This record gives sequence, structure tokens and C-alpha cells, in this order.
Amino acid sequence: MPDAVTMDKLVSLARRRGFVFPSSEIYGGLGSSYDYGHYGVLMKENVKARWLEAMVRERDDIVALDSSVLLHPRVWEASGHVSGFTDPLVDCRHCKRRFRADHLAELECGVRPSKHPGETELCDLTEPRQFNLMFQTRIGAVEESGMDAYLRPETAQGIFVNFKNVAQIARRKPPFGIAQIGKAFRNEVTPGNFIFRTLEFEQMEMEYFVPPDEAERWYRYWIEERLSWYLRFGIRRENLRVRPHEPDELSHYSSGTSDIEYLFPIGWSELEGIANRGDYDLRAHTEASGTTLEWVDSATGERYVPHVIEPAAGVNRSLLAFLVDAYAEEVVAERPRTVLRLHPEIAPVKVAVLPLIPRNEDMVGRARTLYEELRRVVVAEYDDSGQIGRRYRRQDEIGTPFALTIDEQTLEDETVTIRDRDSLAQERIRISGARAFVLDKLAESWTPPKGD
Ligand code: GAP
Repeated sequence: MPDAVTMDKLVSLARRRGFVFPSSEIYGGLGSSYDYGHYGVLMKENVKARWLEAMVRERDDIVALDSSVLLHPRVWEASGHVSGFTDPLVDCRHCKRRFRADHLAELECGVRPSKHPGETELCDLTEPRQFNLMFQTRIGAVEESGMDAYLRPETAQGIFVNFKNVAQIARRKPPFGIAQIGKAFRNEVTPGNFIFRTLEFEQMEMEYFVPPDEAERWYRYWIEERLSWYLRFGIRRENLRVRPHEPDELSHYSSGTSDIEYLFPIGWSELEGIANRGDYDLRAHTEASGTTLEWVDSATGERYVPHVIEPAAGVNRSLLAFLVDAYAEEVVAERPRTVLRLHPEIAPVKVAVLPLIPRNEDMVGRARTLYEELRRVVVAEYDDSGQIGRRYRRQDEIGTPFALTIDEQTLEDETVTIRDRDSLAQERIRISGARAFVLDKLAESWTPPKGD
């Protein structure tokens, strides 16, 4: 992790530049909830698009799904979430705060933040109680005849309950996968650490159904695949590690799980989990629903319950890792600059078009024409407000890889300068070739510049 990055700096940049805002801010904010502004939305869309490309578009063995947030409540009984998706919590009778019993050593006392809960004389903690993380709601217009339901705490179960539909229609033979991106909700009590842990977040989950005797091989395969996805989009290798779970950490369904961890400003923490879920889910839903979820080979009559390998990533947490990894502060020509060196495919805006002198109508006219041409093919931005230096700084802070500037010379010889965010090199190119030039540049392979 670059030395310069702290969570406070990121929160400040994210807010200043319109990536992420605290939710319901005018009402004092809602803990562990955030809203995404223009650049946050564009960047989040890029993260999801890169995941979907890698999972679905570039492969023949994975299909897409978009299941409901609200599922039949029995899904969550069968999956084990109603009985087992809990955190042990303690309440302090003195400060009235609630804490994760298993995280007390990392948490702060509600009265004396220099101490951990339970450490001061005034602390009066209850015994730990199991607290279910699912948000409950009710379906139905009439309260008495309604049905209790849950907002999904993971997207995975929507995939398992659609196994039969998809397997039949997609006519896939194991190994094959079903990929889904969507919102999940958890009533998390631990402090959020910005967008690392929130009440509402998006997951990118893929359930890969395999013959039972191939499960271990595919589990290893998906750990490597997912690790290389983060590297492909610019996360530095030294900031990533794979951590296999200890036996006592494993979820009830898992015979093996490894976390891909990232060195966030809060220390090494989970970015994504890859689990070998065995046949737990398909068997549990078969038993509870009465519908047999298995794979049958129509030619040979062979049948079995596939095992499942699950790479489960978070959109928001990935976005945070991309921001942390990209953040740099440096001094250029004796002036400080903050820059997000995002991979061009993750960066929210690809190119900015800037007329050097905003009052010059010829420059503005040329710049607008070029901008209109570029925005048809990439996310582009036009900016004619303020000093050119300030406009460059602004683009640096949102991570725009290239800026095209229209100046006096453009009016004479039909050329523009293209400025590279990372090297700060400026090159003159013909305005007529600018679109092709930018597209070629964006298609070039990109690795994080050294020296942070
Ligand atoms: N289906 C398995 C599953 O949901 P998980 O490890 O609980 O596994 C997968 O969640 C990923 O979802 C995590 O690695 C993380 O990136 C993201 N995630 C989980 N809880 C989150 C939260 N409260 N806020 C933000 N992201 C979260």
C-alpha cells in the first residue's frame, strides 16, 4: 500500500470529487451507509463490467442471472441463514453501545475511546447474545395476513434456487457456472471503515457446479483466476495475498475457503472469498423444497449432485481497493498533486477535453467538436472552468488517464496536446487523428507505475 494513503484521505477525496457521500447527510447521516456520486457510479459500473466480462463474455461455461432481492423465506431456513447467520454481540449497560463480542480487542469503549469495551470501571457489558444479520421485512398489504421475509444477505442463494431452471435451459454440463451481480443487505454492527463494511452493498458472486471428484482442482483454479483478475486491472501484487481459513473459521457449508486479502489502510482484510461449498446448498434446497437439484446426463443416465466452488466478491470493497492502490501524492514542479493512477478500464472518465483559454470562442468551438466526437466512443469530459493547471489537477484526482488541450497552436496547425496522467508527458497529435489515438492508447496494456 502506498505510504501516503489513509482512510481519512480517501474519504476526503471521495467526497470532494463526488465519488462517495455519507448517506442521508442532511439528516445527520446513517451509520455504515453511503451514496455514490457521478464518478463513483461510473467507476462501480466499470468494476462490474470487468467482472462480468471475465466471468461470462470471455468464457463459454458461465451464464448470467439476476434473481430477486426478496426470496421465499424458506430459502433462508434451508440455507442455514435463519439459524446460523449471526454475530455474537454484547451491550454496554453504561454507554448503551453494542459491540461484536469477538472483536472487543479492536473496538473502542463508548466513553473512553482510548480503551477497549469492558476496560474501564464504568463499562458494564452483558453476556454475548447471537444477533441475526438479516434485515426482516413483511410482504403483503394487510399486516395480519402478510408473510415475514428477508432482504437477501447474499446473492448466492438466488443462484442455487434457480439451478434447475438454468441447467435445463442453458443445457450446460458440469463444470458450468452461474454468475450474478446484485445488492445484498446485512445488519452489521461493527464500525464500517468507510465503504469496507456497509449495511447495503453489491456482491459479484459466481457458483461453479462441478463433478464431486473435481472440486478440489476447481477450487484451486478459481483462487488463481480471481487473483489474476485483480492484477489484470492494476492492483499491485505486493498488496494482495491469499489466506486459507483455519478449520475453526470455516462456514457451516464449507470444506475449504480462502480469502483474497488486500492491504487496506486498516490492515490486511478480506477482499473476496473463494469457497468450496461441497453439495451443501443443492442438497439443503432439495430436502426443503422437495425439488431434486441434481445433474442428470440424458445420454448415459448418470446422475449426481454437483459440488460448488464459489468466488464471492464485493463491488464496493473492490472499488475501495482500486482507489487505495491508485492513490498517490507527489510534488510536480514544486506543487503538490494528488493523483488516482487507476487502470484505464476502471477509471470513471477516460479522456478530458480542455480549451486552454475558455473565453476564446475558436478554442471552445474546436474543443466542443472534439468532445462530441470522443464522447460517442468513450466516457469523456469537457471542462472550461478555471485555470488549466487546476483543471489538470481535477482530472488527476478523478483518475482520468488522458487530457487533450486545445490551444493557440491548434488554431494554426490543427494539432492538440495529449497529456498522460501517469508520466505527465505531453505530445502533440493531429486533431483529426485524436479519436483513434486515444482509443489506441486506452487499448495498450497498463501496469501500475513504480515509485510510490
Ligand atoms: N456467498 C458467500 C458470501 O456472501 P461473504 O464473504 O460473506 O461470502 C462475499 O461475502 C464478499 O462480499 C466479501 O468478500 C466482501 O467483498 C463483500 N461483503 C460482505 N459483507 C460486506 C459488507 N457488509 N459491506 C461491504 N461488502 C461486503
